[in-house]
Amino acid sequence: MLKDKNILIGITGGIAAYKVCNLIRLFKKAEANVRVVLTPNALNFVTKLTLQTLSGNEVYIDNFEIDEYKPEHISLTEADIFVIAPASANTISKLANGICDNLLLSTACAFNKPMLIAPAMNENMWNNKFIQENIEKLQRSGMFILNPAEGFLACGANGTGRMREPEEIYEKVNEILTQGNRAPLKGKKFLITAGGTREKIDPVRYITNASSGKMGLAIADSASKMGADVTLVSTFESNGDWENIIAETAQEMSDIVDKKLPEMDCVIMAAAVSDYKVKNYSEQKIKKTDSDTMSIELVKNPDILKQISAEKNSNQLVIGFCAESENLIENAKKKIQAKGCDLIIANDISRKDIGFNSNENEVYIIDKNLNEKKLDKDTKQNISKDILNYILVLLQDKERETLLTK
Ligand code: CTP
Repeated sequence: MLKDKNILIGITGGIAAYKVCNLIRLFKKAEANVRVVLTPNALNFVTKLTLQTLSGNEVYIDNFEIDEYKPEHISLTEADIFVIAPASANTISKLANGICDNLLLSTACAFNKPMLIAPAMNENMWNNKFIQENIEKLQRSGMFILNPAEGFLACGANGTGRMREPEEIYEKVNEILTQGNRAPLKGKKFLITAGGTREKIDPVRYITNASSGKMGLAIADSASKMGADVTLVSTFESNGDWENIIAETAQEMSDIVDKKLPEMDCVIMAAAVSDYKVKNYSEQKIKKTDSDTMSIELVKNPDILKQISAEKNSNQLVIGFCAESENLIENAKKKIQAKGCDLIIANDISRKDIGFNSNENEVYIIDKNLNEKKLDKDTKQNISKDILNYILVLLQDKERETLLTK
């Protein structure tokens, strides 16, 4: 599948550089075109002649060591993917800060197609706060990171820091180039709720709200298109590439979400859940009486979002929605603190052009530290993609944290 793909490999100064010879062979076997750029330090670990012979192409090292002037850092960017392996702590930090003091870095700075880095270093360096901050920065910018593996390190210690094997890097490149960035949520399980719950009064009447379920449906659709394994728990039937479970009342929704929670990576509560239900459901249709008034006693429903936020484990994400008709941000911040979820997506339901029943939305994403990010007015499809891209970064952060605490 990599036939005729143009692959640019960047090698930095680390002992794992020798393994990249195998990676080049794997790409060549797949009939890809391979070009190689090295940092000057990488030459301490692997020779130019070896790489030239394996790739069948000229190998690039220095910005200025040229016979005829060609801006190499620009011509090298004409590749389908740039793979930096091994990526040293030094190069990672320079990449994250836009430093271009060698040909590899200048090329990376000008590269606007997928980039994959395979870090390799000593465990303490990998755990270093600044390195982790820089990795996070690169990840947020859309770079693919193949986190190092655990094992025997060249420095003699056992720990996390080993570059991933050439076969794993090859597979990742294959995945990126064949699926593009279209399946970044592959392997992740998402549960999404949608619609307004109905609380029955008698066999023909119920209490509900104005939620159309369009936002939850758009999120389910985007999540499944991004490769996630989706379960949609909705108050209406839907067709799509997901498992659809119907829940009519808040209690039914609560039971399903609770049962499914342990197997999920992320739960998004987009449903408008009724806070109260009728205390005494009437088995028979309630008849009109002579009285001019009537009242129905209501009792509280479970707060699903609050409940699952307390139950979830540290690898899981729970996201809430917050529909407000006034003081949007202030109320949303109070809500995320009260519910204990990881994010809250706030939207203003007083506006006719967005929110309930409309095809467009404008939302604020609020995190646990009460930072806010506005997603400008757009279709619910586009807003849902932006929300999921934000969640994707949080899931990747969690994966890295798990690796660090191992
Ligand atoms: N929610 C829930 N269970 C409830 C009520 C709400 O899980 N019984 C979830 C919604 O799915 C949404 C979030 O909580 O993700 C916020 O819902 P919202 O109706 O805005 O807030 P409430 O907690 O109901 O507070 P209020 O109605 O007072 O604004």
